[in-house]
Amino acid sequence: MDRSPHRRFRSRDWFDDPSRSDMTALYLERFMNYGLTPAELRSGRPIIGIAQTGNDLSPCNRIHVELARRVRDGIRDAGGVAMEFPVHPIFENCRRPTAALDRNLAYLGLVETLYGYPIDAVVLTTGCDKTTPSGIMAASTVDIPAIVLSGGPMLDGWHEGELVGSGTVIWRSRRKLAAGEIDEEEFLQRACDSAPSAGHCNTMGTASTMNAVAEALGLSLTGCAAIPAPYRERGQIAYETGRRIVEMAYEDLRPSRVLTRDSFLNAIRVVTAIGGSSNAQPHIHAMARHAGVDLAPGDWMEHGYRLPLLVDVQPAGRFLGERFHRAGGVPAVMAELLAAGKLAGECLTVTGRTLAQNLAGRVASDREVIRAWDDPLKEDAGFLVLSGNLFDTAIMKTSVISDAFRAQFLSDGDAFEARAIVFDGSDDYHHRINDPALDIDERCILVIRGAGPIGWPGSAEVVNMQPPDHLIRRGIMALPTLGDGRQSGTSDSPSILNASPESAAGGGLAWLRTGDTIRIDLRAGTCDALVAADEIARRRGEAPPPVPQSHTPWEELYREKTGQLADGAILEFAEKYRGIAARTPRH
Ligand code: FES
Ligand code: MG
Repeated sequence: MDRSPHRRFRSRDWFDDPSRSDMTALYLERFMNYGLTPAELRSGRPIIGIAQTGNDLSPCNRIHVELARRVRDGIRDAGGVAMEFPVHPIFENCRRPTAALDRNLAYLGLVETLYGYPIDAVVLTTGCDKTTPSGIMAASTVDIPAIVLSGGPMLDGWHEGELVGSGTVIWRSRRKLAAGEIDEEEFLQRACDSAPSAGHCNTMGTASTMNAVAEALGLSLTGCAAIPAPYRERGQIAYETGRRIVEMAYEDLRPSRVLTRDSFLNAIRVVTAIGGSSNAQPHIHAMARHAGVDLAPGDWMEHGYRLPLLVDVQPAGRFLGERFHRAGGVPAVMAELLAAGKLAGECLTVTGRTLAQNLAGRVASDREVIRAWDDPLKEDAGFLVLSGNLFDTAIMKTSVISDAFRAQFLSDGDAFEARAIVFDGSDDYHHRINDPALDIDERCILVIRGAGPIGWPGSAEVVNMQPPDHLIRRGIMALPTLGDGRQSGTSDSPSILNASPESAAGGGLAWLRTGDTIRIDLRAGTCDALVAADEIARRRGEAPPPVPQSHTPWEELYREKTGQLADGAILEFAEKYRGIAARTPRH
């Protein structure tokens, strides 16, 4: 390791500035309260931040409260000084009106902490969905050495001999409840059984997806993403991550050296192979923009669509996180892609080696869970990118299109027409979905608007609307759905979602009316309402759909500054602040 005595860390500007000894004294004195000495802080060793996302409000990441001890041990053993600090809480499924508001808020807070305090490098503790992108976004803006430590998924959930995965069990049981097959008590029991231990969602939801993405980007140690939270290996990799970040500080291995267009294209490819969450699309675009990498919605089609689904994990498949880890996890999947010539193997990673070097010798040990390249679960399993007169960009996760859905809607090829049933937000959907006056049948498409970044605000996971109860009782478990919101990464609904621009930003969903016919052509990548141009113009003159008022200061600011899902829904003005750690803040 290069431990050049000439390497001067930015923290020395706080603790060892000969021109302002009065200030350094002031900066030093309080840290002694937990055991650091002035000599230690002035020794020139790197100060390593541990960005702590675990807390009681963020149960999916709470394992990090314990893991941080192992990280500290690693940092100290490698010659660094650890300083742990809290990150604004993010809990995906409990935060109202939506945790999407928190990703950009946690980002803002982390940028301020990393920039304004004497931190030379950082361990990003990640897990629950948005903790991963927000940490990576912030580390890219500040651009100090950063490494991702996932907390890992929960153990596999079992209910009466059947695997029950977090999130996915909710969507599936909700349909059973509607069909009258189970009661409320059974519903609750199935949900609780899906969460048997510490950790984040054990399905290939957004949490597992985003941690796989972090690994694919080269930002975590090899194999980190999939280790279940309670496993012995989780503690070990926390220790190794602590050791490694100290070396990275000396090597000045910053996100800007790791994150390239090739590494982001690798991440897009991995999302397809694992059957990853549709939330990967906005998050990957958000991280790329803060990293200064150009990505276009079309990159998902060009680089991600014509790849196979290799991983048989819920919601696209059958198994859960424990089995995925034992089968070889993310490295085994990437090794398949690399051997098929589908990954850029020369990308630099936080190990200091290339992706291809990290993957040497990694082979899947369980071919039921991680399939071989030439024996996939599905071909062409990436996100379809659609456009038309209702929106410029929306995506559809094709790996969850079931045979039943295909038979119902796509039996005549890749195009179909459906009658729109339009809902203004999810309250409207829940109030009216079973209203007989809507006359919903199997040739309808359920549409939700007012669910995007500005409309909700934040953008909500509501597009996976289930059909009315009378259709479910007849065995029709899914209708096509469309919306300007998102859906949970644990959902198995083949929705058209993340439609941008959203209705609240003047998108075409604003003028759509119940009863309009929508034509969707999956092969051509189009989705259009069959409404004449003069009629569209007339409707555009009418009052737009209602948008709720802001209830907090941040909601108002978020709405003012946040862009659309197709562009990552970042704080648009923040993009220009990349690389700010190059200049130390003034006293
Ligand atoms: Fe936190 Fe799924 S709700 S990881
Ligand atoms: Mg989610």
